[in-house]
Amino acid sequence: MSWSADKTEVKSWNEWDTLRHVIVGRADDCHIPPEEPALDAKVPEDSDMRGQWGRRPQETIDRANELLDNFAGMLEKRGLRVDRPTSIDHSVPATTPDFHTESQFGCMPPRDVLLTVGHEMLEATMSYRCRWFEYLNYRPLMQQYFNEDPKFRHESAPKPRLTDADYHPDYLSEKIGDAKRLEWAEQKFFVTTEEEPLFDAADVLRFGKDLVVQHGFTTNLKGIEWLRRHFPDHRVHTVNFPGDPYPIHIDATFTPLRPGLILNNPQRRLPEDQRKMFEGNDWEIVDSAQPAHNTPPPLCYSSTWLSMNVLVLDPKTVCVEKSEVYQAEQMDKLGMEVVEVELRDAYAFGGGLHCCTADVYRDGECEDYFP
Ligand code: NVA
Repeated sequence: MSWSADKTEVKSWNEWDTLRHVIVGRADDCHIPPEEPALDAKVPEDSDMRGQWGRRPQETIDRANELLDNFAGMLEKRGLRVDRPTSIDHSVPATTPDFHTESQFGCMPPRDVLLTVGHEMLEATMSYRCRWFEYLNYRPLMQQYFNEDPKFRHESAPKPRLTDADYHPDYLSEKIGDAKRLEWAEQKFFVTTEEEPLFDAADVLRFGKDLVVQHGFTTNLKGIEWLRRHFPDHRVHTVNFPGDPYPIHIDATFTPLRPGLILNNPQRRLPEDQRKMFEGNDWEIVDSAQPAHNTPPPLCYSSTWLSMNVLVLDPKTVCVEKSEVYQAEQMDKLGMEVVEVELRDAYAFGGGLHCCTADVYRDGECEDYFP
């Protein structure tokens, strides 16, 4: 049955089939949260964000919202249905019996929290204390989909306790240095321990029957095992990108564009033994183009590699951030039609075009690309 804008249906099996219905985040009330173990390990040592916390400046929130609204409007003009989250009050401290944090994070980016696999949307455990309640921003939409789509499966992974036992104290030092971080990444020694299952949804890429999951700061091996048991009809693969000193979220590292083609960050190459599944099935893994910028924008957690954090609209069409001219040029050479989207001033809110969205519906069914 083909998609109809009048009827709600949740279904998405991969990152590239024609996108019909999507959630776009909001910058409303986003905060820079106070220090906490998992977050500190991720903030680059030379970042302007070290030691700062509080509500983000209103003018930056307004500007990010303007860009996100424009992006949503452009998608709607192309015929997509776009939903938006309802921001909770992120200034409220988050307290559980196990931890306390003075503020929360925001309702950006949805891709970190929501994992759509087929007819299911799964709320990730998350691994930062300040993001423990983030799913609440999306609950009005989840309730709506539940009411309107009889096949929709709304799932939530077990909430983690996030005590100090979840974090390796070695990562809490102010200065570790990239050389040590790279050595640890090579050894698969990350800030999160194996105390309990932890994963962020943005560590998962969907290739039909196969789910590819990055083991790093935000997703541990128990989180991957939890996903394996939760999706028994899928094959779940663990991947690592040893060239990344801050390995969180796979979508500025490994970007599938269409069946048979993946962009890989040239500084974070997939190791040889992990390439076999792709290359053995005639998938090409090509180095992505260089970012157009030498530094991220102010107060931004992410790297300049948000250049490759693109949103595929269908196997021939891709949204690329407007200033990322080298990435756009490469897409053109790879035979993709490029839709330019201005988003750089919203990067600080948690990421690029893939991050700031979550799939609700894509055409296509669950295929086996790696038989
Ligand atoms: N690890 C990533 C996160 C991007 C979504 C980075 O390069 O900053």
